[in-house]
Amino acid sequence: MKVLVVGQGGREHAIAWKIARSPQLTRLYCAPGNAGTETVAENVPIAADAVDALVGLAEREAIDLVVIGPEQPLTLGLADRLRAAGIAALGPNRAAAELEASKSFAKELMRELGVPTARFASFDRIEAALSYLAGHPLPLVVKADGLAAGKGVTICPTQEAAEAALREAMHDGRFGAAGRRVVIEEFLDGEEASYIVLTDGRAIVPLAASQDHKAAYDGDRGPNTGGMGAYSPAPVVDAALEARVLERVIRPVVDGMRAKGRPLNGFLYAGLMIGSDGPKVLEFNVRLGDPETQPLMLRLESDLLPALYAAATGSLEGTTLVWSPEPAVCVVLASEGYPESSRTGLPIAGLPADCELPDGVVFHAGTRREGTQVLTSGGRVLGVTTRGADYREAVANAYRAIESISFDGMSVRRDIAWRALERS
Ligand code: AMP
Ligand code: GLY
Repeated sequence: MKVLVVGQGGREHAIAWKIARSPQLTRLYCAPGNAGTETVAENVPIAADAVDALVGLAEREAIDLVVIGPEQPLTLGLADRLRAAGIAALGPNRAAAELEASKSFAKELMRELGVPTARFASFDRIEAALSYLAGHPLPLVVKADGLAAGKGVTICPTQEAAEAALREAMHDGRFGAAGRRVVIEEFLDGEEASYIVLTDGRAIVPLAASQDHKAAYDGDRGPNTGGMGAYSPAPVVDAALEARVLERVIRPVVDGMRAKGRPLNGFLYAGLMIGSDGPKVLEFNVRLGDPETQPLMLRLESDLLPALYAAATGSLEGTTLVWSPEPAVCVVLASEGYPESSRTGLPIAGLPADCELPDGVVFHAGTRREGTQVLTSGGRVLGVTTRGADYREAVANAYRAIESISFDGMSVRRDIAWRALERS
């Protein structure tokens, strides 16, 4: 099979790394990829949102399967266009990608299907949003309706903070068009986990559970980021909880979307808050999480490629995925200033040339090659991902590997997987 992976983050490097090990693979492309994906695939310099050029590439190279990593191309209709051209695509059509691209769409769907989630209201007019604040207990959570790279959510402990968040989104245009509509919801307490399944719109194959660390600084403090680290499995997700999430969240949403003529395809990611009254959905994504994909791919023992092809072509029923019992941990090395800004173009020292570690992989995210030198090119630069006999060992292996890697202003959380370590 000839395969094209679309995207350029740690998620796409991890997907490409895993597909590259498939005996069914003949040729692997990544567009645009990064300095890591080029160790396992041929990078093609086409941006992930350049829909026409990507369809052209897939046609020209007679690609058998296009695996779409990030959300933007899905919401731009890349999967629709590939399917129309007769090319198998992993990822939902634009209409189904609404589940991620509009929080109000997702919340209305959950209300309709009785999926547990925070109480909410959505607003297109700032006056109505401001007057809603008065009658509701704090803290409140203000969310930009559209895509904001994980940065559109503000937890507001006071009335003033909520007013400011509404003004920034709806009046000052902080998130552009994505913030013209907002969702205001009740604050949920508990522990977060990421529960991801593979689906062809009907059949469901669960992945192992994982957890990411969204906050920028140690102790889960500071601004929200795309994710500073992740690990799998997530001890908070036991068999009973998993069964409950499948029955009360995943199954109704997969069936409900199909019934609406918006069948899901590819990965369905439920961001969960697990509190004293059970799991509630914080958000849905219609793709794999990043960095969660990195420890997941390290733990996956089955061949990924036939499972992806089956999901893309509506024949997923009967597929199972086998996971190593060993935990895996990903620690993100980020640029100075991330997430607000990031200094880029800096040389990275100490990288293994083939990305391989004795017990894992240095997955690349924001990197590019210039001659023989690898340079930083984004906020999240690398995901050092390692396994171990237990969490302690997996974590120790990651931090040991990081000691030999450096670039100017490198920022790293020192407490990745602390909840798992505390539990075990
Ligand atoms: P989202 O993009 O909706 O998943 O929100 C990003 C992050 O904000 C989540 O991972 C949570 O850490 C936090 N968050 C979102 N909604 C809530 C909520 N209702 N209660 C508490 N925290 C939340
Ligand atoms: N790590 C969270 C996400 O990919 O959305």
